[in-house]
Amino acid sequence: MNSIKKIAVFTSGGDAPGMNAAVRAVVRTAIYNNLQVGGIFRGYQGLIEGDIEALSARSVNQILQRGGTFLKSARSADFREKAGRERAYEKLKSNGIDAIVAIGGDGTFTGAHTFNKEFDFPIIGVPGTIDNDLVGTDYTIGFDTALNTVVDAVDKIRDTAASHNRLFFVEVMGRDAGFIAAHAGVASGALAVLIPEREMKIEQLVERLNEARRHNKSSSIVIVAEGGKSGNATEIARRVNELAPYYDTKVTILGHIQRGGSPSCFDRNLASRLGVAAVENLLQGKRDCMVGMINQKIVLTPFSDAISDKLTLDQELIRIADILSI
Ligand code: F6P
Repeated sequence: MNSIKKIAVFTSGGDAPGMNAAVRAVVRTAIYNNLQVGGIFRGYQGLIEGDIEALSARSVNQILQRGGTFLKSARSADFREKAGRERAYEKLKSNGIDAIVAIGGDGTFTGAHTFNKEFDFPIIGVPGTIDNDLVGTDYTIGFDTALNTVVDAVDKIRDTAASHNRLFFVEVMGRDAGFIAAHAGVASGALAVLIPEREMKIEQLVERLNEARRHNKSSSIVIVAEGGKSGNATEIARRVNELAPYYDTKVTILGHIQRGGSPSCFDRNLASRLGVAAVENLLQGKRDCMVGMINQKIVLTPFSDAISDKLTLDQELIRIADILSI
C-alpha cells in the first residue's frame, strides 16, 4: 500500500515563467488523490527554517498565468552543508511530510539527489529553468517564454540598429549553456551566435562581419551567450572595435527581463503535464528522479543523469544559424 499521505512542493534556484503553473498542477493533483499538501517557501532555505504552509486547491487560484513563483525561490548555502540538510530532514518529519516535489534546475536536483542518498527521502523533480540545460527533457519550464522575450527584444533592437547602421551585441542568459542564444539567434536572424559550446575567435567574427558588409548588410545583430568562451558582450564588442573600428557598435545586456513575464501557452501546458506526472509517479513509488517530456511523452530520468554534463546543444541548430546569416 502507498504510504504517502502528505507531500510538499517548493521552487528553487532561478525562478522561471511557468513555475506557478507547475505548483498549481502539483497541488491540485495531490488533492485529487486525497493527499495533504504543504507549500515550502524560499526553496531549501525555507525548508531548513520551517517556512511551510498548508495549501488547498484554492491557494493556487489565479496563478497559472503569472510569472515568477508565489512560493518564492532562493539559492541556499546552508543546504550545501550536512548540518543544514539534517535540519531540513527534521522539519519534514515534524511537519508530517512524506515526500517532496522539487521544481528547479541542476542546482536543485543536485541537492535533492544528495538528500535522497543521505536520508532515503522520496523526492521527485520537475525541470524549471530558463536555461534548458537538463538531460531528460526536450524542454524545461520557462525556456520557451524566455526565448520569446529575447526574440521580442532583439526585434526591437533591430529597428534601431537598422535605422543607424549599427552593430549590436546582445547578451543573453543561459549560465554555461548556449540554448537560449542558439534558439534566439535562429529565430531573430542574428548574424552570429557566440555560445559556450563552440569557440569563435574574434578574428573569425570580424571576418564574418566584414563579409556581411561586403554583401551590403548595413546593420547586424550578434547574440552572445553569457557563458561564452570569448568573454561577455562588452568585452567582445571592445575587441571587435579594436580590429574593426569602422563599426558603430552598441551592447545590450538583456539580463533578468528574460526571467519575467506571463508564461507562454507552451510553458503552461508543459508545467501542467509535468506537475501532474510528478505526483502520479511519486504515488507509484518513484523517487530520486526528474520527470521530463521527450517526444511528447513523459519520461523519468535519475537525478544523477539529469544533472550530468552529457547534454549537448544540437549542432544542427548552429549549422542552420550559420547558413541563414549570409
Ligand atoms: O539559471 C537561470 C539563470 O537565469 C541563468 O541563466 C543565470 O546565469 C542565472 O540564473 C542568474 O542568477 P541570479 O538571478 O542569481 O543572478
